[in-house]
Amino acid sequence: MLVPLPRWIAHRGGGSLAPENTLAGIRLAARLGFRAVEFDVMLSGDGTPVLIHDETLERTTSGRGPVATTSDAILFALDAGGGERIPRFAEAAALCRELGLLANVEIKPASGYERPTAEAVGRLTAELWRGAPVQPLLSSFSLEALEIARDLAPEIERGVLFEAVPANWLSEIQRLQAVSLHCDGDLLTDPVLAEARGQGIPVLCYTVNAPEKAIALFGRGVSALFTDRLDLFPPATTAYKGLHLGG
Ligand code: G3P
Ligand code: MG
Repeated sequence: MLVPLPRWIAHRGGGSLAPENTLAGIRLAARLGFRAVEFDVMLSGDGTPVLIHDETLERTTSGRGPVATTSDAILFALDAGGGERIPRFAEAAALCRELGLLANVEIKPASGYERPTAEAVGRLTAELWRGAPVQPLLSSFSLEALEIARDLAPEIERGVLFEAVPANWLSEIQRLQAVSLHCDGDLLTDPVLAEARGQGIPVLCYTVNAPEKAIALFGRGVSALFTDRLDLFPPATTAYKGLHLGG
């Protein structure tokens, strides 16, 4: 099943227009015409995969302390902004399926929880999107997590996520049998981009919120951009020529 890779991916659900990593954000992205969303998935203290970026609750919720030691009973009673709850990963998956959105599921393990997070998210991703016409794309800064996901759910495509791309990126992509290279758009070098393009590997850059940066990166040959500025960048409705993700 080939799924065209959209050129624009709404970052953390609804970017800066909605509380991050919430169902309201995902709905908003779809309403604005985005065809892909990225969100971060971490385990709660009960081992439930939930959407949240930070290891601690303070910045994005009404709660306090580490996500990894907070029970579901406490976590799901918190306000994640604008009256939104922290979503279960399963709820976000159902919503993406319903809306026909491509989900970039970033496995975001709290430090020391790489294995259980990757196992839970890998297994659940395969289960939640079984038979779906638009398949998700897993990614992570944790190469260990991607390795575990590869072994548990090989049928789900993977993207390798870096800040600055290291010298051994290609061998890591090959080892992880990943399909895409994700990196900080400010740190992407021409040699890396040229090599990726030569290998037919799409490069996806985060987090691009300025039009001049978007124009420059697309002009250099980057395939897709993660943005918080859903208001600034009306997403392209055509697939990026020749690039496809999915089984
Ligand atoms: O997956 C791209 C981007 O989300 C990575 O950075 O910190 O926003 O998860 P971060
Ligand atoms: Mg992320």
